[in-house]
Amino acid sequence: MMKDRNKFSARTGLKLFVIGAACLLLAGFAWSNGAFKQIAVSEPVEAREFPSNLNDPEKAKAAFNDVAAVFFSARCANCHPAGDIPTQGDEMIPHTMNVTRGKEGKGVYGQTCTTCHQNENLAGDHMPPGTSKDWHMPPADQKMVFQGLTAGQLCRNFKDPSKNGGHKTLREAMDHIQKKDPLVTWAWDPGNGRTMPPMSFEEFSAKVEEWVSSGGACPE
Ligand code: HEC
Ligand code: HEC
Repeated sequence: MMKDRNKFSARTGLKLFVIGAACLLLAGFAWSNGAFKQIAVSEPVEAREFPSNLNDPEKAKAAFNDVAAVFFSARCANCHPAGDIPTQGDEMIPHTMNVTRGKEGKGVYGQTCTTCHQNENLAGDHMPPGTSKDWHMPPADQKMVFQGLTAGQLCRNFKDPSKNGGHKTLREAMDHIQKKDPLVTWAWDPGNGRTMPPMSFEEFSAKVEEWVSSGGACPE
């Protein structure tokens, strides 16, 4: 009896040892594959929040076509011209007083943007607008052009690090909007009776998010 039981437990022990070794092997494999890492480190919020939206090209294109109207609106596009002169007004005419971009987008000597543009909108007709951040346009080597493009071209530029300020991901390129850059939010507080973009900032920001989280496909 005693002998039998010993024999039984020896065999069980061997089995357990084999199973245990197999588990360790599997665990090691999973670890090396990064499977454990993924479980341990929480995924980025955006990946968890919009799982069903991922890669829905039709939804993404529709969302981009909607937000394009904001990018092309005068309040945004005036700082994103194709040439080196910012534009002004709803007509987007070239900025008066020989103002030009300069290397860093901050104007040239004697005509720097902040000489006239203060940290708030100055009251009165034709007074320079301003906001909490230093007023400037994109630099000469990264013009980030909005004017004169189709929605599809603008969309593709946003995904091209040579044209979007060097941003590697679409989400990074959209940080300027999603992190509420004062130069962006200024468009909804433009002063002097200037018109605003065609939808609210909240709606715009939500649609930009929809475009990104649906995979960022571009209209033709
Ligand atoms: C006062 C000028 C100014 C205005 C107005 C402005 N921008 Fe910009 N924008 C910039 C500058 C400058 C950059 C480059 C990043 C920086 O230096 O902050 C930029 C960069 C961007 C970028 C990221 C670059 C890219 O092409 O991927 C986006 C997106 C953008 N702007 C959107 C907007 C939108 C939308 C509006 C209007 C609601 C707007 N901007 C209004 C100056 C402006
Ligand atoms: C000599 C003063 C002066 C300088 C320098 C100057 N601006 Fe202006 N800017 C103005 C004034 C004044 C207005 C308002 C014009 C109006 O409303 O009729 C204006 C308007 C603008 C507008 C149009 C806002 C809108 O949506 O209608 C943009 C964009 C702009 N400036 C960008 C710049 C940038 C970028 C620089 C530097 C590269 C710059 N400005 C340098 C005086 C200046």
